[in-house]
Amino acid sequence: MERIAIIGGAELRGEIPISGAKNSAIKLMAASLLTDEPVRLINMPELADTRLLARLLQRLGTEVEEREGPDGHEMILQTREIVSAIAPHDLVRQMRASFNVLGPLLARSRQAKVSLPGGDPIGARPLNYHLDAFAELGATIDLNGGYVFAQAPRGLKGGHIVFPGVSVGATEHTLLAAVLARGETVIENAACEPEIVDLADCLNAMGARIEGAGTSIIRVVGVARLGGATHAVVPDRIEAGTYAVAAAMAGGEVRLTGARPGHILPLLDRLRCAGVDVDTTDDIITVRRDPARRLSAVDVQTEPFPGFATDLQAQFMALMTLADGESVIRETIFENRFMHAGELARMGADIAVQGGEARITGVDYLTGAPVAASDVRASVCLVIAGLAARGQTLVEGVHHLDRGFEGLEEKLRACGADVRRISEAA
Ligand code: UD1
Repeated sequence: MERIAIIGGAELRGEIPISGAKNSAIKLMAASLLTDEPVRLINMPELADTRLLARLLQRLGTEVEEREGPDGHEMILQTREIVSAIAPHDLVRQMRASFNVLGPLLARSRQAKVSLPGGDPIGARPLNYHLDAFAELGATIDLNGGYVFAQAPRGLKGGHIVFPGVSVGATEHTLLAAVLARGETVIENAACEPEIVDLADCLNAMGARIEGAGTSIIRVVGVARLGGATHAVVPDRIEAGTYAVAAAMAGGEVRLTGARPGHILPLLDRLRCAGVDVDTTDDIITVRRDPARRLSAVDVQTEPFPGFATDLQAQFMALMTLADGESVIRETIFENRFMHAGELARMGADIAVQGGEARITGVDYLTGAPVAASDVRASVCLVIAGLAARGQTLVEGVHHLDRGFEGLEEKLRACGADVRRISEAA
């Protein structure tokens, strides 16, 4: 088992290049199933989740080639033929988003058998919106033995979908099926996240007819076939936000390059209110803080885009543990997404959680401790806390970090942090 060891106290100074977005990359990879031509994804992050999905796609018949191109890492995916429309449990359970192959398989092969992803540490995360949307597009859905069997022997047809709640995954998954359906599909109460715009841009480059992505009403006119395309993955707003908080926590000055400040405006606003200097250009975010100056406590409530992202909640909580006063963080997207609070408390933080609300009373300092990660964002919040803690923090559950953060230790080390990966035997 590997762990990340952080010796706190070093300021962060330097530049961090922001990678392509994990949450977008995995949906774009699924989109490649919709055509027999090659889909070339540039600015691809190299992550455990993308590797895992590549393995699943290979089982379905996709040829996957990876190479270094002029603009960084590239993945080229080509599915000349779907050789199997079955996504087995051993792969789907390791990454929930791999469930998203169901839509493209159904659209192209007219049938699919995909395992339900199963338990998840951040709440129940049901899939009812996804399955109801496919039923509206004319599929018959049966659940049996932990698998979803979906069939549309005469092909999918357009439909009118009104989601009862805002769901990123269900909006993307519906797009991945509706693009090849007969006729028009209207999606109401669609999620507006930048990853949805990125997916729609890629699908449109493949020949789809999607309008309104990035707003709450999306219209799709189905086409008979899609072709290949080259598409650059949108920069990872969660990674950018994470390093912005890391720089605020440790102090110093960090330039985040290749970022999209417009995708994390609520976070940048909250950082400024807390007393952090934040400057932006179109694609650079500069975060500056004098570590001798105490941060102010500010409140945060997570919301669907364009609100404060739930995937930045844990990181912001880490920051607030050292602020002056009490801050309240409300989590409105997922129940049970405060698992990190208990671990931060082990480092000396003062956090009271009740239902979907956490009250954080700033303390003078955190103390390094062995801590355990519960999910990808919670794990990075513990690393961030370790950057500012006295002494050594040992983060367990490194596989969570590897799912979502490309080159985390290297990027932090390049800015002067004392972070290294150690194996259990060391
Ligand atoms: C995606 C992101 C995740 C992020 C989340 C919210 C990926 C791979 N993951 O997750 O990092 O935290 O968006 O920004 O892109 N819901 C239902 N029924 C459904 C689907 C969702 O009730 O069928 C509920 C969920 O339980 C949750 C809310 O809708 O309370 C939002 O979830 P959703 O936006 O679907 O999250 P994911 O797409 O799973």
